[in-house]
Amino acid sequence: MTYITRRAYFNAAHRMYRDDWTKARNEEIFGKCANLNWHGHNYELFVTVKGEINETTVYPIDLNGLKAIIHEQVVEKLDHKNLNLDVDFLQGKMATTEILCIEIFKCLKEPIERHQGVFLHSVKLHETENNAVEYFGE
Ligand code: NI
Repeated sequence: MTYITRRAYFNAAHRMYRDDWTKARNEEIFGKCANLNWHGHNYELFVTVKGEINETTVYPIDLNGLKAIIHEQVVEKLDHKNLNLDVDFLQGKMATTEILCIEIFKCLKEPIERHQGVFLHSVKLHETENNAVEYFGE
């Protein structure tokens, strides 16, 4: 089994704010991310797939194919968007890195696993250089 990782980037705006909490409570819990007038992050995404080496092509999945899936399913939908307002699969959800990471995993799983013998292993999402969330589908 080999594990192959492709990196992608997108920039997006969001805010972390619960309407059922006071402004002070939101700021206490979410810090700067509670800013009512939005703010942005430069997200860095790592998508890891696994598969046996195909006898013909000598790799489990064509990296250009993987790049195209990530672009179509994730980057196109999130890049230069407001995560709270613009993204269909985040409607009604808090735009935390954790939620985003899980939702990205769900978007990628089926298109990636259409390739015979290839499985989505993990999605790792950096919101900042120092903070990242990783999800393995469980
Ligand atoms: Ni933030």
